[in-house]
Amino acid sequence: MKDGLKIALPKVRLGNKVYAVLSQIGYGYDEIMADSRKLVFYDEAKGNTYFLVKPSDVATYVEYGAADIGFVGKDILLENNSNVFELYDLGIGKCRICVAGEKDFPYHEKKHLKVATIFPNISREYFLASGKTIDLITLHGSIEIAPLVNLSDVIVDIVETGTTLRENNLVVHKEICPVSTRYIANKVSYTYKNEEIRRIYDLLKNLEAENND
Ligand code: PRP
Repeated sequence: MKDGLKIALPKVRLGNKVYAVLSQIGYGYDEIMADSRKLVFYDEAKGNTYFLVKPSDVATYVEYGAADIGFVGKDILLENNSNVFELYDLGIGKCRICVAGEKDFPYHEKKHLKVATIFPNISREYFLASGKTIDLITLHGSIEIAPLVNLSDVIVDIVETGTTLRENNLVVHKEICPVSTRYIANKVSYTYKNEEIRRIYDLLKNLEAENND
């Protein structure tokens, strides 16, 4: 077995976009996109191994060296304060981390808020800096329900198209920051597999240049 790169890829929505980019730079492996429950793929020709992991776990695999490199949303890097090298912004998976709630909720007047979120660390830091105190309620998905059933006043969540907010009669009260997908590397791997890791960086840059032509 060749000692190629171990690559952590996010499953689901973001995964398809990342996979399309990898294919374009010659790092595709068709079996990954097959409809199966398989999670680890070894590309014998190139010697690379791909792991399909939960998007929020990609940075953990890379930080601990189980994967050499990975592709992950900036939101996850901010939330986990991940100890990895962030090498490149792929410019895909673009969305915003926002404070959202019901339209008539007087967000700007409130000094204390009940906040439901999948991003407790980002939320804590943001509200501390903005001078509001909060009660934090950590959830793991479908956050939009929280203000509708009075679990919270507002939510801090990812907004991409805005459809989920709209369909649940919620609006953005404040944008915290934009996020997108980043190419990351384990710090030790970056040294001892530097050539391969840099090669992918160069290919990503070239692809962006070609797409901008
Ligand atoms: C994310 C996020 C929002 C939604 C935003 O949820 O938490 O709910 O996408 O996307 P939109 O602005 O395009 O509607 P996801 O689909 O990952 O599932 P989840 O609710 O289980 O977290």
